[in-house]
Amino acid sequence: MTHILHRQIGHSYPLASHAEGVIIRDSAGKEYIDASSGAAVSCLGHSHPDVLAAMREQLDRLAYAHTSFFSTEVAEQLGDELIARAPQGMGRVFFVSGGSEAVEAALKLARQYFVERGECQRQYVVTRRQSYHGITLGALAVGGRERQRRAFAPLLIETHHVSPVYEYRGRRADETAQAYGERLAQELEGKLEKLGGENVIAFIAETVVGATLGAVPAVPGYFKRVREICDRHGVLLILDEVMCGMGRTGTLHACEQEGISPDLMAIAKGLGGGYAPIGALLLQDKIFDAIAAGSRAFQHSHTYMGHPLACAAALAVQRVMQRDHLLANVREQGSHLSRRLKDRFGNHPFVGDVRGRGLLQGIELVSDRGSKQPFDPSLQLHARVKREAMARGLMVYPTGSTVDGTRGDHVLLAPPFIVDAAAIETIVERLGEAIDAATAGIGSVG
Ligand SMILES: Cc1ncc(COP(=O)(O)O)c(C=O)c1O
Repeated sequence: MTHILHRQIGHSYPLASHAEGVIIRDSAGKEYIDASSGAAVSCLGHSHPDVLAAMREQLDRLAYAHTSFFSTEVAEQLGDELIARAPQGMGRVFFVSGGSEAVEAALKLARQYFVERGECQRQYVVTRRQSYHGITLGALAVGGRERQRRAFAPLLIETHHVSPVYEYRGRRADETAQAYGERLAQELEGKLEKLGGENVIAFIAETVVGATLGAVPAVPGYFKRVREICDRHGVLLILDEVMCGMGRTGTLHACEQEGISPDLMAIAKGLGGGYAPIGALLLQDKIFDAIAAGSRAFQHSHTYMGHPLACAAALAVQRVMQRDHLLANVREQGSHLSRRLKDRFGNHPFVGDVRGRGLLQGIELVSDRGSKQPFDPSLQLHARVKREAMARGLMVYPTGSTVDGTRGDHVLLAPPFIVDAAAIETIVERLGEAIDAATAGIGSVG
């Protein structure tokens, strides 16, 4: 009997005991290939000696100093490192301990920016359906996963939703990708006009949608139009790169591939690679300048922000990524993974779509490829796939509610950046077996 309130009551979790590289071993000695980096976290894999050494060294010097008394050398170095490689115009960083905290900080800083400027009427945040921005109340409010929000609806701030970019289901047959993106951009513009652009604080979006849709990038040109529309209405653009950022899609920031720079950007998972809890918010100089010229303090803080051990871990992770040219490996192995997934599942009767960017890849499961009919949600196919994969020593990240918040299943793959071609072969082989086992006998139950 456990005393922990685990994620799923009654589920028996194996005890993770040791890990190295792309392998996690449980207390019974069974090995699992970590093909999802947990939840797209462990970008360097497990037990990287250089990261562990940097953390030990930091522990021997200083484990903790409260940020109202001190800054630390390691936090300053990490700040320098992140700003040197930040999107254009982003000159400051605010450290937190994870993705939800980074999104909360983004929402509050966006609002405070307008308060400092005397635009106190700005009160709405616009977001997209089928997005995930975290689990705390503010982050949940701007998320687009209806089932997760429902029970807490009375506690959530008012937000307004527009459609996600979801080419597989959203683009009409007679529409080019460009035209589809334009239609969605116009939907955003319509929403801002309806609310009154002068009443809106921000539009928030994941650059590549991770957990909720399963590795869905935007169509070409969409984010450029979003940037223009936000600028025209004086609305801030917040990009949530908690999952898709820090190298996961083949460039350090996913927005580099969109040719835009956001006003605020949340990063987390690949920042510290799971070696310590850390997230961060990057901000444009104009936001910093407004606060500096006004109240001179962001009205937001946490006890553990800028934790020296977490900063040491993140700094080491980022240095290893650069030293070992891991972004090049993300691009190379990402293409390889995409190719192998298409080979294996391109004609699979229950796989409707294979998509993604870099080492963030997803496959969407359907009961009928022609009509794109999802499986009956009561089958909990995503949970079956996870169970069958774990039984075969494979960690992937399957999720339900893909299509509309209720129906649909997908599997997310996000291996560590150190993955090689041989591991990818094993991942695809085991995933194929897991999906075949999970769907055996339940096909076409639409
Ligand atoms: C895009 C995105 N934003 C925010 C979060 C929340 O991060 P955390 O779980 O660290 O609070 C996640 C977590 O999966 C995420 O994928």
